[in-house]
Amino acid sequence: MKYYFAPMEGITNYIYRNSHHCLYKGIDQYYMPFIAPHHHHHLKTRETSDINPAHNQDINVVPQILSNNADDVIYTLKQLNELGYQEVNINLGCPSPTVTKKHKGSAMLDDLDNLDDYLKAIFQAQLPIKVSIKTRIGYQDTSCLEALIKLYNKYPIEKLIIHPRTGIQMYKGTVDLAAFEAFYQHSTIPLVYNGDLKCIADIKSIEEHYPQLEGIMVGRGLIARPYLIDEYVTGNQETLEHFKKFHDQLESGLIETLKHEKDVLFKLKELWAHMYVMFNDSKKPLKHIRKAQNLEDYHKALDEMLDCGINYSDEF
Ligand SMILES: Cc1cc2nc3c(=O)[nH]c(=O)nc-3n(C[C@H](O)[C@H](O)[C@H](O)COP(=O)(O)O)c2cc1C
Repeated sequence: MKYYFAPMEGITNYIYRNSHHCLYKGIDQYYMPFIAPHHHHHLKTRETSDINPAHNQDINVVPQILSNNADDVIYTLKQLNELGYQEVNINLGCPSPTVTKKHKGSAMLDDLDNLDDYLKAIFQAQLPIKVSIKTRIGYQDTSCLEALIKLYNKYPIEKLIIHPRTGIQMYKGTVDLAAFEAFYQHSTIPLVYNGDLKCIADIKSIEEHYPQLEGIMVGRGLIARPYLIDEYVTGNQETLEHFKKFHDQLESGLIETLKHEKDVLFKLKELWAHMYVMFNDSKKPLKHIRKAQNLEDYHKALDEMLDCGINYSDEF
C-alpha cells in the first residue's frame, strides 16, 4: 500500500511539503496543489515557484493541472516533463464554485462526451509522462457512475484517485462508499482512496475493506496530525519536541518566503484550524492563536497550546 499526501491549495505548498518531508516518514508521494495554465500558458508566480525542481529536491512530488482545455494540458505536460517530472495529475475533483462555474474540476464530470474528447486528446499526444487523475464520483449526482468508470477504463491512466463525494456535495455529508465500491469492482486502473481519513482506525478500515488498493491519500487528517502516516507506518508516537521542530521549520520557511508578518500569521492560523485536534482541551489556546495580532502574541498562544499535551486518542 502506498500513502499519498493530498494536494491542498493554500496549505501544502513547497514550504509545507519540505518541512513535512524533513520531519515525518511514510509518505510515498506528495501531490502538489493545482496549477491552472491559461491560454497564453502563463503561470502565476506562486505556481512557478511551487513546481520549481529546486524547491522540491529529494521529495517525490506530483504536480497537478486544473484545466478544461486539452491543448493547455498537453502544453503544460510537456513543460513539466522538461522540468523532470515523471507523473502529473489532472484535477477532475475540485468542487469550488469559482472553478466549477468555468466548467473545470468536478464540473467536467457533468458532460461525459466532452470529458471523453478531452482525455482522448491528452492521451493521443502520447507524451513520455505518466498521467494520473483525481476525481469525484460525479458532479450533480452519481447517475452516470457506470459510464464514468467505463470512460476512465478506456485510457492508460497511471492511477485514479477517488474522493467519493459528488462535486456539489463539496465536503459536506458522508463519503459514498457504495460508489467507491463500484469503482473497486469495475475499474481496471490502479485505485487510490481519498476522503475523511482522520485517524489510524479509519486508515486500517479502508485497507481492510479494499486490500487491492494501490494506495491511500490523506489531506485534512494529515494537516491535523502531521504524524498520522508516520505513526501508522513506523509505529512511532509523536512527541511535543518533534512536533515543535516541524512547526518551527515551517514557521521559519514561511517567514523567509512571505513578505509580511500578517501573511505568516494568516498561514499559521489556517493550519491551526486543523491542528488543534492533536492537543488536549485545545479550544482556549486555539482562540488565543486566532486572536493573535503579531508573532509575539502567537508564540505565547502556541506555548499554551503545547502545554495542553498531545491527544493520542482517536477521538476528537
Ligand atoms: C483547503 C483545501 C484545498 C484543496 N486543494 C486541492 C487541490 O489543489 N487539488 C486537489 O485535487 N484537491 C484539493 N483539495 C481536496 C483534497 O486534496 C482532498 O481531496 C479532500 O480534502 C478530501 O480528502 P481528506 O478528507 O483526506 O481531506 C483541497 C481541499 C481543501 C480542504
